[in-house]
Amino acid sequence: MPTSNQQLSSATHMLTAQELSAIAEGIAAGDPAAFVPVGTDRRWGIVVATEAYEAWVIAWPNGTGLAMHDHGGARAAVRVVSGRLRERFHADGSVQLRWLDAGDEQMLSADHVHEVINLHDIEAITVHVYSPPVGDMGFRVDPEIDLRTSPAR
Ligand SMILES: [Fe+2]
Repeated sequence: MPTSNQQLSSATHMLTAQELSAIAEGIAAGDPAAFVPVGTDRRWGIVVATEAYEAWVIAWPNGTGLAMHDHGGARAAVRVVSGRLRERFHADGSVQLRWLDAGDEQMLSADHVHEVINLHDIEAITVHVYSPPVGDMGFRVDPEIDLRTSPAR
């Protein structure tokens, strides 16, 4: 009979960073853009959704992004398939900046808070694997950035 600790860990199962990375790499090696609908806004599609994780592909046209947000306590692997994104994130009590280039992968901790935006002409394609699953609420409630229709902040 499982102890209460085992039951807790089963209910909150989180894939390891290595597992998330392997899933993201596998999806990126296929044709990830095929999961994203055609369009000119920021778009996304779910590749796979299980009780333990979800994998998404997101297309980021020039000037689109997401304002500061967390991931509801999920850990995530983010892999850039093509294009380049600017990420600003909270770390060590300040907001830091880094560029995510094609081929890069970042492992986001469960408490990671960031803003992601495409400032380049080429549409960026990214693969995101979250564990536990985040559902689609995060992407619906997070403020969209669209520099094509709003002034730069
Ligand atoms: Fe995010």
